[in-house]
Amino acid sequence: MNGKVALVTGGSRGIGRNIAKVLAGEGYNVAITYNSNEELAKEVVKELEHSGVKAACFKANISIKDQVDNLIREIEKELGSVCVLVNNAGITKDNLLIRMSEDDWDSVMDVNLKGAFLTTKAVARGMMKKRYGKIINISSVVGVMGNAGQGNYSASKAGLIGFTKSMARELASRGIRVNAVAPGFIRTDMTDSLKEEVKEAMLLNIPLGYFAESEEVSNLVAFLASEKSDYITGQVIQIDGGMNI
Ligand code: NAI
Repeated sequence: MNGKVALVTGGSRGIGRNIAKVLAGEGYNVAITYNSNEELAKEVVKELEHSGVKAACFKANISIKDQVDNLIREIEKELGSVCVLVNNAGITKDNLLIRMSEDDWDSVMDVNLKGAFLTTKAVARGMMKKRYGKIINISSVVGVMGNAGQGNYSASKAGLIGFTKSMARELASRGIRVNAVAPGFIRTDMTDSLKEEVKEAMLLNIPLGYFAESEEVSNLVAFLASEKSDYITGQVIQIDGGMNI
């Protein structure tokens, strides 16, 4: 057991749930956040505890500063100071520019980009004191390539890449490594909701010819969280089956 504390935002389902599971398997005590489904979050906590680690879930909207500050205080009380932060929580509100409302733009920016700023700021002090920490931001391949109908989402994920690189430079002298992971198409609730014809068109652009499972992302996150990757910072690692070569 490594006894370090990892926080996975949006860890109650999808990719985040799997990241939490893999990190628990590596011996981290894991905190997850959930938005509304407490029952599901508690079920995930039980699943994580099966790995013999401590786990806890916290209700928090990561786009609201007071809730994030409170979240980090609660985690510190219950599990200890956060050593690994995985900024995974994210939403989509897809539409073509002409039909995209201001609200669709703002809410995606608030969760995907401002949320990562708030959580990073809230954990940074503890990591600086320890002179060690790992921050992994879940961006997206569309933050690198762009995508029609996802102006808000791709801008938020591109913003996350700029934030990652700036934080890597700013926090390196305190031993904090900051990297981004840019997944392509991963099977989750988020992608299940896409129309079949959209999925078929996407598949044609993936040289490896298949959609990945969450575990592939989780294994990469676990590597970036570990000491095995200590000389890597400020990088954007694409995990997309070759979608963007
Ligand atoms: P999902 O929709 O299954 O899970 C998203 C999680 O974020 C949920 O647990 C949700 O409760 C949480 N969340 C949403 N708004 C929140 C808020 N305001 N405060 C706290 N938590 C909030 O999505 P999925 O597919 O698991 O995606 C996880 C991350 O991976 C997201 O950042 C997404 O943009 C990114 N991603 C996903 C890809 C995919 O193909 N599924 C591809 C590339 C990136």
